[in-house]
Amino acid sequence: MVSSFLWCSVHLSIDQSRLAAELEALGNISEAAPPVTTRVVFTEADQRARAFINRLCREAGLELRDDPVGNTFARWAGSDPGLPAVATGSHIDAIPNAGRYDGTVGVLGGLEAIRSLQRSGFHPHRSIELIIFTSEEPTRFGIGCLGSRLMAGAIDASAADQLKDRDGITLEQARMAAGFTGSLSNVRLSVASYSAFVELHIEQGPILEARNLEIGVVTAIAAPATLRIWIEGEGGHAGAVLMPGRRDAFLGAAEIALAVESAAKSTGALDTVGTVGVCEVSPGAVNSIPNRVRIEADVRDIDLTRRDGVLKRISEACMDIALRRRLQVRIESLNADAPAQCAPNVVDVVAGACEEHRLRHDRMTSRAYHDSLFLSRVVPTGMIFIPCRSGFSHRPDEYSSPEAIGSGTLVLAEALSRLAGAA
Ligand code: HGY
Ligand code: MN
Ligand code: MN
Repeated sequence: MVSSFLWCSVHLSIDQSRLAAELEALGNISEAAPPVTTRVVFTEADQRARAFINRLCREAGLELRDDPVGNTFARWAGSDPGLPAVATGSHIDAIPNAGRYDGTVGVLGGLEAIRSLQRSGFHPHRSIELIIFTSEEPTRFGIGCLGSRLMAGAIDASAADQLKDRDGITLEQARMAAGFTGSLSNVRLSVASYSAFVELHIEQGPILEARNLEIGVVTAIAAPATLRIWIEGEGGHAGAVLMPGRRDAFLGAAEIALAVESAAKSTGALDTVGTVGVCEVSPGAVNSIPNRVRIEADVRDIDLTRRDGVLKRISEACMDIALRRRLQVRIESLNADAPAQCAPNVVDVVAGACEEHRLRHDRMTSRAYHDSLFLSRVVPTGMIFIPCRSGFSHRPDEYSSPEAIGSGTLVLAEALSRLAGAA
């Protein structure tokens, strides 16, 4: 139950130009040249980005700490520091060839929400804490939301530490090399660590813009699943081996990718989606028949039974393709998470904050996953969406205007003040 103390709507102003400049600066901390942002967890760019955020948090007078997996916590102490705090936050890691707003709007917007409350003279009763979650993207270790999963106890700590990247480096080696030591079992949140969590994020889809809405009040988050599929056939000379005898691993993979698409479409529901985003072909020579292929499939739905039905169809298709093409096919489920419902009380506080500031808003589902998907298992959680141009995301032309980001930050500041209560 989220208890929002007697709240007073404080006079809030968001410094949009400062926030835009900080997002620009953060976006340029990248392994790729601007406007492309690539910032994979525990790389040199990630470390520079963390230092940038930590400096801004210190300048705001927040108390900083890191946990063993690299989640960072920046706390504004309330008048009753013993009470469970109110939290906000998101992630700063970015997939290859990404934009500069996914995750970062929730981190820098969260910081600006806190600064706007400080400027207004508001003093929180409950502490307010900004969380920068580590490794939200699955890029390096294959599974998304590692930091928030561990906080929620949704992944075994020792199994997580043994996750490997493409170079065979384990999460344990990578985090230790980045300076995050200690046991992952200490990442798990103790009961009632927080009374509420609210994440600000770009929608990453076209609905808000199409409906000319300023804010999306998220009520539920879709259930993601990731499959890693190996296909083994027989290599050989691309010119000399005749077609009838071939066991071409890539053509098997291609049929499986099409099976992912048809399985997702087979439910007839718009909420069911599927794609193959990773494909590695060996030996990778144009004149050599592929003998081994690794693909990764991303399947989601807001309805768990429907989503699991799609996974079953994909598995059946793999067996059929393997038989017909005389291939070996192995499927590994990297994650198959449940969907999340946001806490009604937090959703109402977010909606009330939109009404307070006369922002056009509506309730909606998140089709992308976020750290909120796991925080919601242990903390009453809500999300605030803002529109992004044409719904583009996970690409360099991802864009959300300073005005949209400012409105989302204003709603976040208002919601935090209500959830934390005044001292
Ligand atoms: O893939 C997602 O939904 C998130 O952006 N990582
Ligand atoms: Mn993302
Ligand atoms: Mn994100």
